[in-house]
Amino acid sequence: MKLFNILLLWSSVLFTHVLADNTSIAYELIYFYYVYKFQWESGADKTIAVGCSAAYGTEEMCYFDEFAKYLIANGWPYSPTTDDHTKTPTASQATALNKDIPHSARFSLTKLMAAFSSEKAMTIVLERVLDAANTALDVEGYEPAKADLKQAIEMTQRAQAARYDKYNWLEDQALEDTAPDAAEYIVKDGANYDWDETFDKIDDAVNDDEIEYDEGETYKAELLNFSQNIDARVEATLTSQNKDITKTQKDGILEHLHIIRSLGTTTNELNEHVVAESDDSGDSLRAPSHCSSDNIEFGDSD
Ligand SMILES: *[C@@H]1O[C@H](CO)[C@@H](O)[C@H](O)[C@H]1NC(C)=O
Ligand SMILES: *[C@@H]1O[C@H](CO)[C@@H](O)[C@H](O)[C@H]1NC(C)=O
Repeated sequence: MKLFNILLLWSSVLFTHVLADNTSIAYELIYFYYVYKFQWESGADKTIAVGCSAAYGTEEMCYFDEFAKYLIANGWPYSPTTDDHTKTPTASQATALNKDIPHSARFSLTKLMAAFSSEKAMTIVLERVLDAANTALDVEGYEPAKADLKQAIEMTQRAQAARYDKYNWLEDQALEDTAPDAAEYIVKDGANYDWDETFDKIDDAVNDDEIEYDEGETYKAELLNFSQNIDARVEATLTSQNKDITKTQKDGILEHLHIIRSLGTTTNELNEHVVAESDDSGDSLRAPSHCSSDNIEFGDSD
């Protein structure tokens, strides 16, 4: 995509409260619904969409269509079908949400989580929702339906892929701009750089005498530095492509990249609960998953 198009896109989301993206938002809502459901089922404190039941005059857990209607903002004409009146939503529930979705579709953050009383970055929203998911899934004796956990993970992957298509190529461009020789060895797994594979590939090239040992080490150092300075590199690329780009526009684009990484972290952490569940011992042996900041830094998905 041309930078010009990105800027147009960006200006249309600039003034929304949360950095929404209309191609990923339906999947994000379905993911949020599962976290809501995990809270109801596990007996953990309810923090997600706590006003939903009352909005429909019931004390039962909301169905997905009710949940979505409760959260989405005015100006988003949502007409759910009977299939959307479900407690096990899948990607097909995105169809009704996406029909006539406005350009800058949004949902209410304060209804999603009362703690969000003012504007919050989407990365923070994702972090809090992930904490809520981990807390519910860690409740002693609670096991969500495998299909539910699987759907929640699939939604974060789909949301990430939808956002990825628009912005992630910028990271590749930044790498190409600053370390063109090293860029050739990059291995990606979907939206994420696979640094282990990348470094192996460089080692192979050295072993096969395609490049000198010192060259290989230089490439690795460049890639390591890149992984630690992705924002600065992307900013440099944005500036080189458009001298007039504003700080706000650059920040907005970087925020999108951060959201993509947060969704990757979410997928990773939810996946740890799947592994724990298939462990027959019943006791969860996994390490605390709340501080895997490598994933954020490197955008690594597995
Ligand atoms: C989402 O918004 C973009 C512009 O930001 C627009 O071009 C596109 O048509 C919208 N998608 C839908 C499904 O309305
Ligand atoms: C690492 O990257 C930063 C940001 O692009 C750059 O300023 C710095 O010179 C790089 N350091 C090395 C050792 O290449």
